[in-house]
Amino acid sequence: MGNKKITIQDIRQAKKDHRKIVMVTAYDYPFGLMADEAGVDIVLVGDSLGMVVMGLDGTVEVTMEHMIHHIRAVSRGCKTPLVIGDMPFMSYNTSVRDAIINAGRLMKEGGCDVVKLEGGVDFAPTIEAIVKAGIPVQGHIGLTPQTASALGGFKMQGKDAKAAKRIVDDAKALEDAGVFSMILEAVPAPLGEIVAEAVSVPVIGIGAGSQVDGQVLVTHDMIGLFDKFIPKFVKQYTKIRPTIIEAMKAYKEDVINQGFPAQEHSFNMPDKALEELKKMIQE
Ligand code: KIV
Repeated sequence: MGNKKITIQDIRQAKKDHRKIVMVTAYDYPFGLMADEAGVDIVLVGDSLGMVVMGLDGTVEVTMEHMIHHIRAVSRGCKTPLVIGDMPFMSYNTSVRDAIINAGRLMKEGGCDVVKLEGGVDFAPTIEAIVKAGIPVQGHIGLTPQTASALGGFKMQGKDAKAAKRIVDDAKALEDAGVFSMILEAVPAPLGEIVAEAVSVPVIGIGAGSQVDGQVLVTHDMIGLFDKFIPKFVKQYTKIRPTIIEAMKAYKEDVINQGFPAQEHSFNMPDKALEELKKMIQE
């Protein structure tokens, strides 16, 4: 979309223009910079950071402080993409007032442009209140990782007609509540297409097939930096982990064998100063 800051209006317009929206995750400044340089539309500072950066088993333990810390770093790197801050578990579930206060903190203290939260029909009133407070919201339906245990684990959602209809209802409720776009995670591809057709706001898929309005992937999955498990819907565009391990091993060998640091990596001292120093030590 060029070099000017991408807005929520640009994202809405992309659906009208049938132009696919490109979204990735980032958790720190270097990855924010790289996403910017790659020219993606949206960078999500996802609470997936709990798993791919912090080594946790899920996203439940991620706090507001973790999110603010990482959103600040990513925002510094992203001049053009829209930056979305993920609301962590229990930062919006306790009351509408808590949700507005915490959404505001992610924007004011983190510096993101928009917040994202998980949930369908049940969370529509919360979303409506945050939007009314002046904070744009992206929804997240289908598989919602923060409540994955209640959904039977990290599993595809909307398998039968009844469950699929509930997801269509969730999407419509989110649109009515005022989201500017929504994530649809881990649903059958035909359902992805039905949801994208059912609402006028962009539906960005992750494991929701190709007939949605855009795609998002967790960057650490997509580049092979995190390979503890690889969901079916992930395409690995590179496998960066072995390259990093090889570099560390080569460095280790070099240090042990005194191949590093070489002359070009070392600072020099004038001969005269060195001699003077040696004399001073001997005295
Ligand atoms: O936290 C995250 O990275 C997400 C994506 C999977 C959409 O919510």
